[in-house]
Amino acid sequence: MEIDRRAFFAGLGGVAAVAAMADEAKAEALEHHMLLQLNVANQAAAQPGTAKKFPTAAEVEAQIETQPSRRGAGNLFVSRVGNVKKLPPLPERPTLVDFYKLRFMATSNHCLQSANRAMQNGMSEEIILACLLHDTVQDLIKVDHGWWGAQMYEPYVSEKVSFAIRYHQALRFYADEEHGYEYPDLYRRMFGSDYKPEPYIEATYKMVRNHKWYLEPRMVTVNDLYAFDPNVNPKLDQFLDIIGRNFKQPKEGLGFDNSPVAHMWRSIARPDSPL
Ligand SMILES: [Fe+2]
Ligand SMILES: [Fe+2]
Repeated sequence: MEIDRRAFFAGLGGVAAVAAMADEAKAEALEHHMLLQLNVANQAAAQPGTAKKFPTAAEVEAQIETQPSRRGAGNLFVSRVGNVKKLPPLPERPTLVDFYKLRFMATSNHCLQSANRAMQNGMSEEIILACLLHDTVQDLIKVDHGWWGAQMYEPYVSEKVSFAIRYHQALRFYADEEHGYEYPDLYRRMFGSDYKPEPYIEATYKMVRNHKWYLEPRMVTVNDLYAFDPNVNPKLDQFLDIIGRNFKQPKEGLGFDNSPVAHMWRSIARPDSPL
């Protein structure tokens, strides 16, 4: 299919917005753009003069059987282009920084951008750390990534940080104009223009909305993917002090400290292990 580059970039908010997107998000957006073009072409053929911007939830669901993998699969387990590649070895006692550099390849740019924005906006160290970690578990699994991510980080961060990571997932579906958060177009594209969040997401949102820590996950959503300066290319180095003060690195290495989540870290370390 021929891609109208200008329409594709415009649909995502322009060249600058696309430059700031993670590769994963770009690939996803491109896929949806192509599907949308097909839909528009089909619809135009059926009803000349009509066109729409986003797929419906039913159209998104119809894509399931057109893909070789499920949408909730973690980035490390699926290649979007060609075959998967061998991964570099991790040190014997891997740290968060090692995982960040050697395993969170698909999510790190997006998370660094979020953390950088949180830092520029003068957020607390806990919110900056939550932004830095908020989507990294998507390299393991995407479905319910807020809950998975919070669980994976819980033994090593404060309760506020894991609260922010867990609930940013649900809050992303609900606008909060007072705090500068709009419902993202990316979700219209990913879930469908008429998508209604699952009842457990709605219930979670209501609970968090009235919680004294509401602003912790809300600020993760506010500093999430949008409105970045594409000329800023944040590096992990600028967050090393915050990691040092707020992340309890186990001396045995992540995956080997016998914590209840050690297997999650090992699964990210060794995704090629067949059992
Ligand atoms: Fe997220
Ligand atoms: Fe995000």
